Amino acid sequence: MNLFLPCAGGVEEFLVAEVARICGGEARQLRAVRGGVQLESGWREVMRLNLHSRLSQRVLVQVAHRPYRNEGDLYEAASQVAWEDWFSAKQTFKIELTAQHSPLKSLNFAALKMKDALVDRFRDRGGVRPSVETRWPDVRVFAHLTAETVTLYVDTSGEPLFKRGWREDKGEAPLKETLAAAMIAASGWDGRVPLYDPCCGSGTIAIEAAQVACNIAPGLSRRFGFEKLRAFEAAPWQRLKQEAQAMRSRAEVPIHGSDVAFRMVDFAVRNAQRAGVAEAVNFRGGDALQRMPPTETAGVMLLNPPYGERIEAGGVAGARRAGRETAQSEQAGDFFAQLAAHWKKHYDGWTAWVLSPDLKLPTRMRLKESRRVPMWNGPIECRLFRFDMVKGSARREGQDAAARA
Ligand SMILES: C[S@@+](CC[C@H](N)C(=O)[O-])C[C@H]1O[C@@H](n2cnc3c(N)ncnc32)[C@H](O)[C@@H]1O
Repeated sequence: MNLFLPCAGGVEEFLVAEVARICGGEARQLRAVRGGVQLESGWREVMRLNLHSRLSQRVLVQVAHRPYRNEGDLYEAASQVAWEDWFSAKQTFKIELTAQHSPLKSLNFAALKMKDALVDRFRDRGGVRPSVETRWPDVRVFAHLTAETVTLYVDTSGEPLFKRGWREDKGEAPLKETLAAAMIAASGWDGRVPLYDPCCGSGTIAIEAAQVACNIAPGLSRRFGFEKLRAFEAAPWQRLKQEAQAMRSRAEVPIHGSDVAFRMVDFAVRNAQRAGVAEAVNFRGGDALQRMPPTETAGVMLLNPPYGERIEAGGVAGARRAGRETAQSEQAGDFFAQLAAHWKKHYDGWTAWVLSPDLKLPTRMRLKESRRVPMWNGPIECRLFRFDMVKGSARREGQDAAARA
Protein backbone atom coordinates (compact mmCIF):
# COMPACT_ATOMS: atom_id res chain seq x y z
CA MET A 1 0.00 0.00 0.00
CA ASN A 2 1.07 3.60 -0.63
CA LEU A 3 0.89 5.44 2.66
CA PHE A 4 0.95 9.15 3.39
CA LEU A 5 1.56 10.46 6.91
CA PRO A 6 0.83 14.20 7.19
CA CYS A 7 2.74 16.18 9.81
CA ALA A 8 3.39 19.78 10.86
CA GLY A 9 5.67 21.75 8.53
CA GLY A 10 9.30 21.43 9.57
CA VAL A 11 8.78 18.00 11.12
CA GLU A 12 9.11 15.91 7.93
CA GLU A 13 12.71 14.73 8.40
CA PHE A 14 12.11 13.79 12.04
CA LEU A 15 9.07 11.80 10.92
CA VAL A 16 11.13 9.95 8.29
CA ALA A 17 13.52 8.87 11.06
CA GLU A 18 10.62 7.86 13.30
CA VAL A 19 8.91 5.81 10.57
CA ALA A 20 12.20 4.05 9.80
CA ARG A 21 12.53 3.18 13.49
CA ILE A 22 8.94 1.90 13.77
CA CYS A 23 8.78 -0.06 10.51
CA GLY A 24 12.44 -1.06 10.01
CA GLY A 25 12.93 -2.76 6.64
CA GLU A 26 9.16 -2.87 6.04
CA ALA A 27 9.14 0.84 5.09
CA ARG A 28 9.96 0.94 1.38
CA GLN A 29 10.41 4.07 -0.78
CA LEU A 30 10.38 6.13 2.42
CA ARG A 31 10.73 9.84 1.74
CA ALA A 32 9.81 13.26 3.06
CA VAL A 33 7.53 15.45 0.98
CA ARG A 34 6.13 18.87 1.88
CA GLY A 35 3.90 18.47 4.95
CA GLY A 36 4.36 14.74 5.38
CA VAL A 37 6.05 11.45 4.62
CA GLN A 38 5.36 8.83 1.95
CA LEU A 39 6.17 5.15 2.05
CA GLU A 40 5.09 1.76 0.78
CA SER A 41 4.20 -0.77 3.38
CA GLY A 42 1.69 -3.35 4.59
CA TRP A 43 -1.34 -3.52 6.86
CA ARG A 44 0.66 -4.51 9.93
CA GLU A 45 2.77 -1.36 9.56
CA VAL A 46 -0.38 0.73 9.23
CA MET A 47 -1.38 -0.52 12.69
CA ARG A 48 2.15 -0.14 14.09
CA LEU A 49 2.45 3.43 12.79
CA ASN A 50 -0.88 4.42 14.30
CA LEU A 51 0.11 2.90 17.61
CA HIS A 52 3.70 4.17 17.82
CA SER A 53 4.02 7.40 15.81
CA ARG A 54 4.35 10.51 17.96
CA LEU A 55 4.92 12.90 15.07
CA SER A 56 2.37 12.14 12.37
CA GLN A 57 -1.14 13.54 12.31
CA ARG A 58 -2.69 10.52 10.58
CA VAL A 59 -1.89 7.41 8.59
CA LEU A 60 -3.59 7.59 5.20
CA VAL A 61 -3.76 4.86 2.53
CA GLN A 62 -3.70 6.21 -1.00
CA VAL A 63 -6.44 4.69 -3.19
CA ALA A 64 -6.34 6.95 -6.26
CA HIS A 65 -4.07 9.52 -7.86
CA ARG A 66 -4.91 11.01 -11.25
CA PRO A 67 -5.16 14.20 -13.26
CA TYR A 68 -8.38 16.25 -13.26
CA ARG A 69 -9.69 19.37 -14.85
CA ASN A 70 -13.25 19.70 -13.62
CA GLU A 71 -15.81 18.26 -11.19
CA GLY A 72 -16.76 15.58 -13.73
CA ASP A 73 -13.18 14.22 -13.57
CA LEU A 74 -13.41 14.13 -9.76
CA TYR A 75 -16.68 12.15 -9.97
CA GLU A 76 -14.99 9.73 -12.35
CA ALA A 77 -11.91 9.36 -10.11
CA ALA A 78 -14.01 8.65 -7.01
CA SER A 79 -16.32 6.21 -8.76
CA GLN A 80 -13.36 4.04 -9.87
CA VAL A 81 -12.19 3.31 -6.33
CA ALA A 82 -13.35 -0.05 -4.90
CA TRP A 83 -14.75 1.55 -1.72
CA GLU A 84 -16.72 -1.65 -1.04
CA ASP A 85 -13.39 -3.39 -0.34
CA TRP A 86 -12.75 -0.88 2.45
CA PHE A 87 -16.12 -0.55 4.19
CA SER A 88 -19.76 -1.56 3.93
CA ALA A 89 -22.86 0.39 2.89
CA LYS A 90 -24.14 0.15 6.46
CA GLN A 91 -21.30 2.34 7.70
CA THR A 92 -21.25 6.13 7.75
CA PHE A 93 -18.54 8.19 6.08
CA LYS A 94 -17.25 11.70 5.55
CA ILE A 95 -15.14 13.23 2.80
CA GLU A 96 -12.58 15.85 3.86
CA LEU A 97 -11.13 17.92 1.06
CA THR A 98 -7.96 20.00 1.04
CA ALA A 99 -6.63 21.91 -1.96
CA GLN A 100 -3.59 23.81 -3.11
CA HIS A 101 -3.81 25.94 -6.24
CA SER A 102 -6.96 24.14 -7.44
CA PRO A 103 -8.63 25.94 -10.36
CA LEU A 104 -12.10 24.85 -9.18
CA LYS A 105 -14.44 27.57 -7.95
CA SER A 106 -16.18 25.70 -5.15
CA LEU A 107 -14.41 23.09 -3.05
CA ASN A 108 -17.72 22.26 -1.36
CA PHE A 109 -19.18 21.38 -4.74
CA ALA A 110 -16.09 19.32 -5.59
CA ALA A 111 -16.47 17.35 -2.34
CA LEU A 112 -20.19 16.87 -3.06
CA LYS A 113 -19.41 15.36 -6.48
CA MET A 114 -16.98 12.88 -4.95
CA LYS A 115 -19.50 12.01 -2.23
CA ASP A 116 -22.10 11.35 -4.97
CA ALA A 117 -19.67 9.12 -6.85
CA LEU A 118 -18.93 7.06 -3.76
CA VAL A 119 -22.60 6.68 -2.85
CA ASP A 120 -23.64 5.88 -6.44
CA ARG A 121 -21.01 3.17 -6.63
CA PHE A 122 -22.40 1.42 -3.55
CA ARG A 123 -25.99 1.82 -4.75
CA ASP A 124 -25.21 0.49 -8.23
CA ARG A 125 -23.54 -2.58 -6.75
CA GLY A 126 -25.89 -3.55 -3.95
CA GLY A 127 -28.83 -1.17 -3.92
CA VAL A 128 -27.90 0.18 -0.49
CA ARG A 129 -26.08 3.48 0.01
CA PRO A 130 -23.93 4.51 2.97
CA SER A 131 -24.88 7.72 4.82
CA VAL A 132 -22.79 10.78 5.43
CA GLU A 133 -21.99 11.61 9.05
CA THR A 134 -19.93 14.73 9.58
CA ARG A 135 -19.21 14.50 13.32
CA TRP A 136 -18.45 10.89 14.15
CA PRO A 137 -18.18 9.01 10.85
CA ASP A 138 -17.16 5.35 10.83
CA VAL A 139 -14.86 6.03 7.90
CA ARG A 140 -13.06 9.18 6.74
CA VAL A 141 -12.02 9.68 3.15
CA PHE A 142 -9.49 12.39 2.41
CA ALA A 143 -9.17 14.09 -0.98
CA HIS A 144 -6.34 16.41 -1.89
CA LEU A 145 -6.39 18.59 -4.99
CA THR A 146 -3.38 20.27 -6.52
CA ALA A 147 -3.55 22.41 -9.65
CA GLU A 148 -3.72 19.29 -11.81
CA THR A 149 -4.11 16.12 -9.74
CA VAL A 150 -6.55 14.59 -7.31
CA THR A 151 -5.38 12.09 -4.67
CA LEU A 152 -7.83 10.05 -2.63
CA TYR A 153 -7.01 8.39 0.66
CA VAL A 154 -8.77 6.11 3.13
CA ASP A 155 -7.93 7.27 6.63
CA THR A 156 -6.85 4.62 9.13
CA SER A 157 -6.50 6.85 12.20
CA GLY A 158 -9.98 8.22 12.91
CA GLU A 159 -9.49 11.00 15.40
CA PRO A 160 -6.18 12.76 14.60
CA LEU A 161 -3.17 11.13 16.23
CA PHE A 162 -2.34 14.11 18.46
CA LYS A 163 -5.38 13.04 20.46
CA ARG A 164 -3.64 10.45 22.58
CA GLY A 165 -6.60 10.00 24.90
CA TRP A 166 -5.00 11.42 28.07
CA ARG A 167 -5.32 15.20 27.78
CA GLU A 168 -8.75 16.03 29.11
CA ASP A 169 -7.60 19.09 31.07
CA LYS A 170 -5.99 21.87 29.10
CA GLY A 171 -5.29 25.59 29.38
CA GLU A 172 -5.79 28.42 26.91
CA ALA A 173 -2.82 27.74 24.67
CA PRO A 174 -2.12 24.01 24.83
CA LEU A 175 0.52 22.63 22.54
CA LYS A 176 -0.50 19.75 20.29
CA GLU A 177 1.00 16.49 21.54
CA THR A 178 2.49 15.87 18.08
CA LEU A 179 4.30 19.23 18.19
CA ALA A 180 5.57 18.61 21.72
CA ALA A 181 6.92 15.30 20.40
CA ALA A 182 8.52 17.14 17.47
CA MET A 183 10.27 19.50 19.89
CA ILE A 184 11.61 16.51 21.81
CA ALA A 185 12.78 14.84 18.57
CA ALA A 186 14.44 18.05 17.33
CA SER A 187 16.24 18.53 20.64
CA GLY A 188 17.69 15.03 20.37
CA TRP A 189 16.70 14.36 24.00
CA ASP A 190 16.96 10.61 24.50
CA GLY A 191 15.89 10.11 28.12
CA ARG A 192 19.42 10.06 29.56
CA VAL A 193 19.58 13.56 31.06
CA PRO A 194 16.94 15.39 33.15
CA LEU A 195 14.26 17.31 31.29
CA TYR A 196 12.46 20.39 32.64
CA ASP A 197 9.64 22.58 31.27
CA PRO A 198 9.42 25.74 33.43
CA CYS A 199 6.23 27.00 31.67
CA CYS A 200 4.54 23.60 31.49
CA GLY A 201 0.85 24.58 31.24
CA SER A 202 -1.16 21.37 31.02
CA GLY A 203 2.10 19.40 30.95
CA THR A 204 2.16 18.30 27.31
CA ILE A 205 5.94 18.45 26.76
CA ALA A 206 6.88 16.81 30.06
CA ILE A 207 4.23 14.08 29.68
CA GLU A 208 5.28 13.29 26.10
CA ALA A 209 8.89 13.13 27.31
CA ALA A 210 7.92 10.87 30.21
CA GLN A 211 6.14 8.51 27.83
CA VAL A 212 9.27 8.43 25.64
CA ALA A 213 11.41 7.72 28.71
CA CYS A 214 9.02 4.95 29.85
CA ASN A 215 8.68 3.46 26.35
CA ILE A 216 4.92 3.94 26.38
CA ALA A 217 3.38 3.81 22.90
CA PRO A 218 1.38 7.03 22.35
CA GLY A 219 -1.67 5.21 20.96
CA LEU A 220 -2.06 2.60 23.70
CA SER A 221 -5.12 4.22 25.27
CA ARG A 222 -7.18 5.19 22.25
CA ARG A 223 -9.10 3.69 19.36
CA PHE A 224 -8.32 3.98 15.66
CA GLY A 225 -10.24 4.30 12.41
CA PHE A 226 -8.74 1.09 11.04
CA GLU A 227 -10.69 -0.89 13.65
CA LYS A 228 -13.81 -0.15 11.55
CA LEU A 229 -12.35 -1.07 8.16
CA ARG A 230 -13.02 -4.43 6.46
CA ALA A 231 -9.35 -5.47 6.54
CA PHE A 232 -9.25 -5.23 10.33
CA GLU A 233 -8.48 -8.39 12.27
CA ALA A 234 -8.63 -8.22 16.04
CA ALA A 235 -6.02 -10.91 16.85
CA PRO A 236 -2.92 -9.33 15.19
CA TRP A 237 -3.94 -5.93 16.59
CA GLN A 238 -4.20 -7.34 20.12
CA ARG A 239 -0.75 -8.92 19.69
CA LEU A 240 0.76 -5.57 18.62
CA LYS A 241 -0.76 -3.88 21.66
CA GLN A 242 0.49 -6.63 23.98
CA GLU A 243 4.00 -6.28 22.51
CA ALA A 244 3.81 -2.54 23.15
CA GLN A 245 2.64 -3.11 26.73
CA ALA A 246 5.54 -5.47 27.34
CA MET A 247 8.04 -2.81 26.21
CA ARG A 248 7.08 -0.41 29.02
CA SER A 249 9.97 0.45 31.30
CA ARG A 250 10.94 2.89 34.05
CA ALA A 251 12.33 6.33 33.26
CA GLU A 252 16.10 6.58 33.88
CA VAL A 253 16.07 10.29 34.70
CA PRO A 254 13.74 12.73 36.46
CA ILE A 255 11.35 14.82 34.35
CA HIS A 256 9.96 18.06 35.75
CA GLY A 257 7.43 20.71 34.90
CA SER A 258 6.32 23.89 36.63
CA ASP A 259 3.94 26.74 35.91
CA VAL A 260 3.08 30.01 37.59
CA ALA A 261 -0.63 29.07 37.42
CA PHE A 262 -1.51 26.46 40.04
CA ARG A 263 -4.64 25.55 38.09
CA MET A 264 -2.37 24.45 35.25
CA VAL A 265 -0.26 22.37 37.59
CA ASP A 266 -3.41 20.52 38.71
CA PHE A 267 -4.30 19.89 35.08
CA ALA A 268 -0.80 18.61 34.35
CA VAL A 269 -0.89 16.22 37.33
CA ARG A 270 -4.23 14.78 36.25
CA ASN A 271 -3.09 14.44 32.64
CA ALA A 272 0.08 12.63 33.75
CA GLN A 273 -2.03 10.16 35.74
CA ARG A 274 -4.18 9.40 32.69
CA ALA A 275 -1.06 9.08 30.51
CA GLY A 276 0.38 6.45 32.88
CA VAL A 277 3.44 8.54 33.83
CA ALA A 278 2.47 9.97 37.23
CA GLU A 279 5.56 8.31 38.77
CA ALA A 280 7.96 9.55 36.13
CA VAL A 281 7.10 13.25 36.06
CA ASN A 282 6.99 15.81 38.82
CA PHE A 283 4.89 18.98 38.52
CA ARG A 284 5.08 22.03 40.81
CA GLY A 285 3.86 25.58 40.93
CA GLY A 286 6.25 28.52 40.57
CA ASP A 287 7.46 31.46 38.55
CA ALA A 288 9.98 30.55 35.84
CA LEU A 289 11.83 33.76 36.77
CA GLN A 290 12.44 32.45 40.26
CA ARG A 291 12.53 28.66 40.12
CA MET A 292 15.90 27.08 40.66
CA PRO A 293 17.02 24.01 38.67
CA PRO A 294 14.97 20.99 39.77
CA THR A 295 17.99 18.66 39.66
CA GLU A 296 21.66 18.94 40.59
CA THR A 297 22.72 17.48 37.28
CA ALA A 298 22.33 19.88 34.38
CA GLY A 299 19.84 18.78 31.73
CA VAL A 300 17.58 20.03 28.99
CA MET A 301 14.87 22.68 29.26
CA LEU A 302 12.13 22.42 26.67
CA LEU A 303 9.34 24.98 26.58
CA ASN A 304 6.86 27.00 24.62
CA PRO A 305 6.67 30.09 26.81
CA PRO A 306 3.77 32.58 26.85
CA TYR A 307 3.60 34.32 23.45
CA GLY A 308 1.64 37.37 24.47
CA GLU A 309 -1.10 36.81 21.88
CA ARG A 310 -3.23 34.23 23.61
CA ILE A 311 -1.45 34.12 26.93
CA GLU A 312 0.69 36.53 28.89
CA ALA A 313 3.62 36.09 31.21
CA GLY A 314 2.51 35.89 34.83
CA GLY A 315 4.55 35.92 38.02
CA VAL A 316 7.17 38.57 38.74
CA ALA A 317 7.19 39.90 35.15
CA GLY A 318 3.39 40.15 35.14
CA ALA A 319 3.32 41.94 38.52
CA ARG A 320 5.95 44.48 37.39
CA ARG A 321 3.80 45.33 34.39
CA ALA A 322 0.58 45.71 36.36
CA GLY A 323 -0.69 49.27 36.48
CA ARG A 324 1.26 50.55 33.51
CA GLU A 325 0.43 50.38 29.83
CA THR A 326 3.17 48.67 27.88
CA ALA A 327 3.39 47.60 24.25
CA GLN A 328 3.11 43.86 23.70
CA SER A 329 6.69 43.53 22.44
CA GLU A 330 7.98 45.44 25.46
CA GLN A 331 6.08 43.12 27.81
CA ALA A 332 7.53 40.07 26.06
CA GLY A 333 11.00 41.70 26.09
CA ASP A 334 10.76 42.21 29.85
CA PHE A 335 9.89 38.61 30.53
CA PHE A 336 12.45 37.07 28.21
CA ALA A 337 15.29 39.36 29.28
CA GLN A 338 14.60 38.43 32.91
CA LEU A 339 14.29 34.74 32.05
CA ALA A 340 17.65 34.78 30.26
CA ALA A 341 19.30 36.61 33.17
CA HIS A 342 17.90 34.01 35.58
CA TRP A 343 19.12 31.12 33.44
CA LYS A 344 22.59 32.65 33.01
CA LYS A 345 22.92 32.99 36.74
CA HIS A 346 21.49 29.66 37.89
CA TYR A 347 21.31 27.20 34.98
CA ASP A 348 24.96 26.76 34.15
CA GLY A 349 25.44 23.73 31.91
CA TRP A 350 21.77 23.44 30.89
CA THR A 351 20.58 23.52 27.30
CA ALA A 352 17.34 25.42 26.72
CA TRP A 353 15.14 24.79 23.67
CA VAL A 354 12.49 27.47 23.28
CA LEU A 355 9.67 27.38 20.71
CA SER A 356 8.64 30.87 19.69
CA PRO A 357 7.05 32.74 16.77
CA ASP A 358 9.30 35.69 17.63
CA LEU A 359 12.29 35.59 15.31
CA LYS A 360 13.97 38.25 17.43
CA LEU A 361 13.82 36.16 20.58
CA PRO A 362 17.63 35.72 20.87
CA THR A 363 18.06 39.50 20.75
CA ARG A 364 15.37 39.99 23.39
CA MET A 365 17.11 37.41 25.57
CA ARG A 366 20.56 38.81 24.81
CA LEU A 367 21.66 35.30 24.03
CA LYS A 368 23.10 33.79 20.89
CA GLU A 369 21.27 30.67 19.78
CA SER A 370 23.36 27.69 18.77
CA ARG A 371 20.57 26.31 16.56
CA ARG A 372 17.22 27.41 15.15
CA VAL A 373 14.82 24.80 13.76
CA PRO A 374 11.82 26.02 11.71
CA MET A 375 8.55 24.53 12.97
CA TRP A 376 4.88 25.37 12.42
CA ASN A 377 2.53 25.58 15.39
CA GLY A 378 -0.71 25.23 13.38
CA PRO A 379 -0.77 28.34 11.18
CA ILE A 380 1.95 30.12 13.22
CA GLU A 381 5.48 29.95 11.85
CA CYS A 382 7.87 29.37 14.75
CA ARG A 383 11.47 28.61 15.46
CA LEU A 384 12.78 26.20 18.03
CA PHE A 385 15.84 28.04 19.40
CA ARG A 386 18.62 26.28 21.23
CA PHE A 387 20.55 28.21 23.87
CA ASP A 388 23.54 26.69 25.64
CA MET A 389 23.80 28.07 29.13
CA VAL A 390 27.51 28.11 29.72
CA LYS A 391 28.18 30.75 32.37
CA GLY A 392 31.03 32.78 30.92
CA SER A 393 30.31 32.35 27.24
CA ALA A 394 26.54 32.98 27.57
CA ARG A 395 27.35 36.32 29.14
CA ARG A 396 29.93 37.16 26.50
CA GLU A 397 27.59 36.20 23.68
CA GLY A 398 24.84 38.16 25.38
CA GLN A 399 27.01 41.26 25.31
CA ASP A 400 27.74 40.64 21.64
CA ALA A 401 24.02 40.22 20.90
CA ALA A 402 23.21 43.39 22.86
CA ALA A 403 25.85 45.28 20.90
CA ARG A 404 24.38 43.99 17.63
CA ALA A 405 20.78 44.85 18.60
C1 LIG B 1 1.93 28.69 25.82
S1 LIG B 1 1.55 28.12 27.42
C2 LIG B 1 2.33 26.56 27.54
C3 LIG B 1 1.42 25.47 27.13
C4 LIG B 1 1.90 24.11 27.46
N1 LIG B 1 3.06 23.72 26.68
C5 LIG B 1 0.76 23.13 27.29
O1 LIG B 1 0.84 22.29 26.41
O2 LIG B 1 -0.26 23.24 27.95
C6 LIG B 1 2.54 29.11 28.46
C7 LIG B 1 2.40 28.81 29.93
O3 LIG B 1 3.30 29.66 30.61
C8 LIG B 1 2.74 29.94 31.87
N2 LIG B 1 3.42 31.13 32.42
C9 LIG B 1 3.21 32.44 32.17
N3 LIG B 1 4.08 33.21 32.88
C10 LIG B 1 4.86 32.36 33.61
C11 LIG B 1 5.91 32.53 34.53
N4 LIG B 1 6.36 33.74 34.85
N5 LIG B 1 6.47 31.42 35.08
C12 LIG B 1 6.02 30.17 34.76
N6 LIG B 1 5.02 29.95 33.89
C13 LIG B 1 4.43 31.03 33.31
C14 LIG B 1 1.27 30.12 31.61
O4 LIG B 1 0.51 29.91 32.81
C15 LIG B 1 1.02 29.05 30.53
O5 LIG B 1 0.54 27.88 31.11
